[in-house]
Amino acid sequence: MVVDILKLCIDKGFLLDKTVLRLLNKLEEKKAIEIVKILTNLGLDERVVTKDLFDLHIDKFRDMLVKEGNGEAVDDRKSVKLLSASVFSSRKIEVSHFIEYFSSRYKILKGILELKNFNNLSSIRRIGSNSGIYTIIGMVFSKRITKNKNLLIEVEDLTGSSIILVNKENRVLFEKCSNLLLDDVVAFCVSGSSDMLFAKDVIYPDCELGKEKRGRVDEYVAFSGDFHVGSKMFLESNFLKFVSWLNGEMGDDRSRAIAQKVKYLFLSGDIIDGVGIYQEQEKFLNIKTCKGQYQKVAEMLGKIRGDVEIVMCPGQHDAVWIGEPQPTIPKKWASDLWRMENLYLVPNPALVEIDSNFKILMYHGASINRFIDEISEIRMRFGHSHPTKVVREMLKRRHLAPTHGIMDYIPCEGKDSLVIDVVPDIVVTGDQHRAEVGSYNNILMVAGSCWQSTTPFEEKIGNVSEPCRVPLFNLKTREIKMIDFSDDEVGDFKEVGDA
Ligand SMILES: [Fe+2]
Repeated sequence: MVVDILKLCIDKGFLLDKTVLRLLNKLEEKKAIEIVKILTNLGLDERVVTKDLFDLHIDKFRDMLVKEGNGEAVDDRKSVKLLSASVFSSRKIEVSHFIEYFSSRYKILKGILELKNFNNLSSIRRIGSNSGIYTIIGMVFSKRITKNKNLLIEVEDLTGSSIILVNKENRVLFEKCSNLLLDDVVAFCVSGSSDMLFAKDVIYPDCELGKEKRGRVDEYVAFSGDFHVGSKMFLESNFLKFVSWLNGEMGDDRSRAIAQKVKYLFLSGDIIDGVGIYQEQEKFLNIKTCKGQYQKVAEMLGKIRGDVEIVMCPGQHDAVWIGEPQPTIPKKWASDLWRMENLYLVPNPALVEIDSNFKILMYHGASINRFIDEISEIRMRFGHSHPTKVVREMLKRRHLAPTHGIMDYIPCEGKDSLVIDVVPDIVVTGDQHRAEVGSYNNILMVAGSCWQSTTPFEEKIGNVSEPCRVPLFNLKTREIKMIDFSDDEVGDFKEVGDA
C-alpha cells in the first residue's frame, strides 16, 4: 500500500489499534482509505479505534471487507488491546498548547480529588478575605523554606493563587509536604484567608483497587526491555538463553512447564541502543544504524515461539523523538518488527489490556531519575536500587512526570496523556535496568531489568544495573517469579524465587 494508513488516521485525529491497522493494511488501498473516511465522518469521541469499536460500526463498511473476500482478514485475536494512546498532531506547537496541557491535567486530577467528598471545598478566589477552614485543590507553583524553617508553598487553581504555610512543628505534615513536587495537583485542608493559609493536611489524588485482579487462565506474563541492541555491551548470549528458555528448550520439567505458560512478553523500551544518543556513542556500538539494530531485534524476537504475544513501547534510546509521550517505533526504521504477527507496537506511555481483564500501564520511565533527585526520602533511603518506590510516587500523584522541565514533553491534543486517569492493574517500567516487583494498593508494580552490562553513565550516577533478570507474573494465581539469565555459562539459568 502506497498510503500510510496510520498516518492518514493521525492526520484525521485518531489512531487505530494494531488489529484494525493490520486489517486495513490487507485491503486494497482505495477501500482502506474509504473506511478511514467513514470512521472520520462518524465523529467518534474515542481517540483510538479498537477492534471492538470497529466491529460496532462494521455494518457501515462490511461490504468493503466482504466483497474482496477479506471478511476473514478480520483478526479475531482479542487478547491484546490498546486502550488509550496519545493523539499526536502535526500542528505547530504554540504556548496555548502548553496551557491546554496543564489545564487538562488540573481538570482531570481535580475531578479525581473531588470524588473524595471534601468538606468546605472552595476555589482560591472564593476564599477571599473570609477567614475559615477550607479544602482547596491546587497545582504546586513553588515551595521554599523560610528563615524560621517553615515551608511556604505557593499553589494555584483556575481562579487564582495563594500561599500556604506548613509549620515545621507538625513533623508528619511537614515531611509529607516537603516531598511535594512542583506542578503536583493535590488537595490542601487549610485554615486562614487568601492572604495566608495554614496547612492542616495534604491529600494526593492516589490510586487504589478494591482487590487484586485475578485472571481465569493459568498463564504468565514476562516483563523485559532495555535490550540496547547495537551496543557492544548488549548481552546477546544471555538474551538468547532467555529465548531458548521461553521456547521450552532448557531447564528441568518444572521450569519448562512454567516457560510454556508464558503467553505475553512486555518490552518497556530502549529496545535498541540508538545512534547519536550521547557523545561519542559510536565508539560503543557494534551496529551503527537504527535500521540495522532493529533488524537484529526482529531476528532475535523472531526466534520466540509465535504464540507469545509481544507488546513493545519505545524508550529514550529508540528511533522516535525523545520527548514524552513517544509514538510507536516507526515502520521506516523497523519494518521487520512491523511484519511480526505476534508483536504489538504501542506508544510510550500506553494502557494495554490483556485477556479482556488486566489493564497494564507501560511506561519506559525517563522521569524516574528525576523523581529520585527530587524526593529526598527516596534519594537518601533507596537511591536507584528500588525503582518501584518511584512508581508508587507516580501512582500517588496519578502522573508519570509531573514537574515541568524534568524531561522533554510534547503537549498532545485533547489531554495530558501522562496523567494516570485509569487505575491500572499492573504498571510496568524500564529505564533503571534493575528488576523489581512490588505492590501498592493492590496494584502490581514491575520494573524491568536489561540486557546490557553496566554503562559508564550508570556508574557515574551510582546505578549499578542488574541485567538479565526477568520477572514473571501468573495472571490466575498472582504468583511472581524472577528468573535470572545472567550466568556466563550459556545453557544455565537460575530461578531467584518468588519476589
Ligand atoms: Fe535503558
